[in-house]
Amino acid sequence: MIIIKTKEQIDAMNEAGKLLAECHRRIAGMIKPGVTTTEIDQFVEKFLAERGAHPEQKGYNGYPYATCASVNDVICHGFPSDVPLKDGDIVTIDMVVKLNGWLADSAWSYAVGNISEEAQHLLDVTKKALYLGIEQAVIGNRIGDISNAIQTFAESENLSVVRDFIGHGIGEDMHEEPQVPHYGPPHRGTRLKEGMVITIEPMLNLGSYGTKIDADGWTARTIDGKLSAQYEHTLAITKDGPLVLTEQNV
Ligand code: MF3
Ligand code: CO
Repeated sequence: MIIIKTKEQIDAMNEAGKLLAECHRRIAGMIKPGVTTTEIDQFVEKFLAERGAHPEQKGYNGYPYATCASVNDVICHGFPSDVPLKDGDIVTIDMVVKLNGWLADSAWSYAVGNISEEAQHLLDVTKKALYLGIEQAVIGNRIGDISNAIQTFAESENLSVVRDFIGHGIGEDMHEEPQVPHYGPPHRGTRLKEGMVITIEPMLNLGSYGTKIDADGWTARTIDGKLSAQYEHTLAITKDGPLVLTEQNV
């Protein structure tokens, strides 16, 4: 069942989203060679605690940290670690913020120092794919229109779309209906209605879309060891079009 949110509930999610966006802006300022993702994770814990918010990922299905920190060939759900980031790495920081009982979810990929041309292309295309998906998130369209816009663009740029992890409805729970794949045919799936709140979170790979999970049970990597990137927003379907609740430049 898809839980439709009221205007007031969407406003509450937007407050969580604004806090999450501010957190990402602060992380952007911390990213440089030598910093560890443990330091970033601890910053997020402190930042949210000071504002009366909660890192929802911590303890979710036993996940041990406030953030997911996914470096280079890690697709998602990487553990923060004491290994310093190095020049040329890319890292995705993903987090879910709970504020006054309502959630927002956003992941962002960052370049560490100077990165290769192909890594920069991966970041640029993945971010653009997210926004092309968001453009399709209008009343009357279907989930498949979002999925197809992302897949079509990604593949036209010679990148592959991860199948094993997808977007989702969100509200008081992190994962609600509907499911939001980032691949598939247009004009199919759930029709979008006012008051739905979903995430769109494409993970694109330089190589093939296959995944494998580390012995820790969480860390998802590309099967061929090539780079992966991800950008994720939480957004509401409104009469005025998609309202991005986790936008960073507002
Ligand atoms: N933020 C992730 C998502 O988009 C959730 C990560 S799983 C967790 O669904 F266990 F780390 F929370
Ligand atoms: Co998500």
